[in-house]
Amino acid sequence: MNRVPPAAHPPLVPPLAQHGALAMREEELRDWGHRFGRSTHPPLVITVAGELGAGKTTLIQAICGGYGVIEDVTSPTFGLVHEYRAPRSTVYHLDLYRIDGPHQLDALGWDEIVGGAGLVLIEWPERAGNRVPTGHVTLSLQHLPSDPDRRLLYAGWHA
Ligand SMILES: Nc1ncnc2c1ncn2[C@@H]1O[C@H](COP(=O)(O)OP(=O)(O)O)[C@@H](O)[C@H]1O
Ligand SMILES: [Mg+2]
Repeated sequence: MNRVPPAAHPPLVPPLAQHGALAMREEELRDWGHRFGRSTHPPLVITVAGELGAGKTTLIQAICGGYGVIEDVTSPTFGLVHEYRAPRSTVYHLDLYRIDGPHQLDALGWDEIVGGAGLVLIEWPERAGNRVPTGHVTLSLQHLPSDPDRRLLYAGWHA
């Protein structure tokens, strides 16, 4: 089923491949993320799914760079939430890999973050169950068994 973003949000750029997936080298993925970040307006929640090493943090770093975050974006291994400043809004980067379930989200200030005015980027969104609000961009990365240098990027909109 095709879902389109509401008019308030510009179309995803660059345009997606016909089947909604692109096989990208790391540099191409960073470039896509940078351009996507540049075109992004808050408030917006973006989920980034994929196995360990799929490139979620790499993609988020690029999106943050394009969005205007100047600080280094690292993997939030110790804190589950990293917070950055950008000219357009605060940016939250959440990595839910280590949470045991949605019940732990309250301690992170989840409702305020995802319902707030900022840009929110979430790794391991599955861990949050149904607490990811509707109306968000879904990004997903997959390894390609045939090519270790490329990842498949799927992008969509969860209405
Ligand atoms: N096409 C690609 N896209 C993204 N990362 C790639 C690609 N090819 C190789 N890599 C490497 O895969 C690793 C991805 O790590 P990371 O972004 O931390 O993944 P995750 O956050 O999903 O665990 C990095 O070491 C990166 O250099
Ligand atoms: Mg990561």
